[in-house]
Amino acid sequence: MSSDNIFRSRSQGVPSEGVKDQYADGKAARVWKKYIGDSNQRTKNYREFLSGLLKKHGCEKVLDAACGTGIDSMMLIDEGFKVVSVDASDKMLKHALKARWEKRKDPKYDEWVIEEASWETLPKDIGTFLPGAQFDAVICLGNSFAHLLDEYEDQRTQKMCLRNFATVLKPGGLLFIDHRNHDAMINSGATPGHSIYYNCKYPVDIKTSVLVVRGKPEIITLDYCIDATEDGLITEKSEFRLCYYPHRLHSFIRMLDEAFDNRAKHSIYADFKPLEQVDNPAYYIHVMQKALD
Ligand SMILES: C[S@@+](CC[C@H](N)C(=O)[O-])C[C@H]1O[C@@H](n2cnc3c(N)ncnc32)[C@H](O)[C@@H]1O
Repeated sequence: MSSDNIFRSRSQGVPSEGVKDQYADGKAARVWKKYIGDSNQRTKNYREFLSGLLKKHGCEKVLDAACGTGIDSMMLIDEGFKVVSVDASDKMLKHALKARWEKRKDPKYDEWVIEEASWETLPKDIGTFLPGAQFDAVICLGNSFAHLLDEYEDQRTQKMCLRNFATVLKPGGLLFIDHRNHDAMINSGATPGHSIYYNCKYPVDIKTSVLVVRGKPEIITLDYCIDATEDGLITEKSEFRLCYYPHRLHSFIRMLDEAFDNRAKHSIYADFKPLEQVDNPAYYIHVMQKALD
């Protein structure tokens, strides 16, 4: 793959202004369900980690701030939580809305709210359909937050979005937010094909490219190739590209703490285990507990 192919100035479907929807061309959205696998078999470690911590803290009302096709939201509804799901991509939301329709006979799903909203304008967007709503927990998982690139080179949009997550949390509420181990990816130039979140049964190849600007890694581009031809429903391998801001662990910790005015309790997990138990994790998961007053 040539470098010209990797660093196109603008990919198809990405607007020049407003929220950038990397899923706008529908390619990733179409194959996403195959990539994440069966939602009923959400990886046991993930289900137990998330639902265990939410229950331990008495959380009931959860905002899934990057719901995508709705997989995390459905897992939480099945675990008895009340879920509001938002996402900026209508191509992804289409699949979540379809999933809710398919569950319409299950009373647990009667109160599932699905709406379009973006992190940049989260409190305002939520105010249009649930005025004044605050949540016991907000989740932004599956390496979603790293989709937000740094167009001003000072991370101001990322900082604003983290503050927006804090705003829609009740005092004492929890934010769950993750990123891949970009430190390791930058050093090795590779991304693990298997995700701790998903149960993809098809071979997944991920090509990793790192764009370094003035000595600083600015964008990681992952070219996914999923070979789901064996089930006969599709004849070609599915390919899609996603770009990420390569959050490094230590700077992300600082940015998160500042978004909560350095008053939140900040716990960090590695692949859902205590940090010290995993040497070279694929993901870091941060849990912020907003201060009580
Ligand atoms: C990697 S997908 C993960 C979806 C889901 N959590 C999962 O694990 O399958 C990332 C999601 O973040 C959403 N997203 C990216 N930027 C966003 C923004 N600024 N506001 C709201 N959603 C955004 C994308 O549209 C996409 O659905």
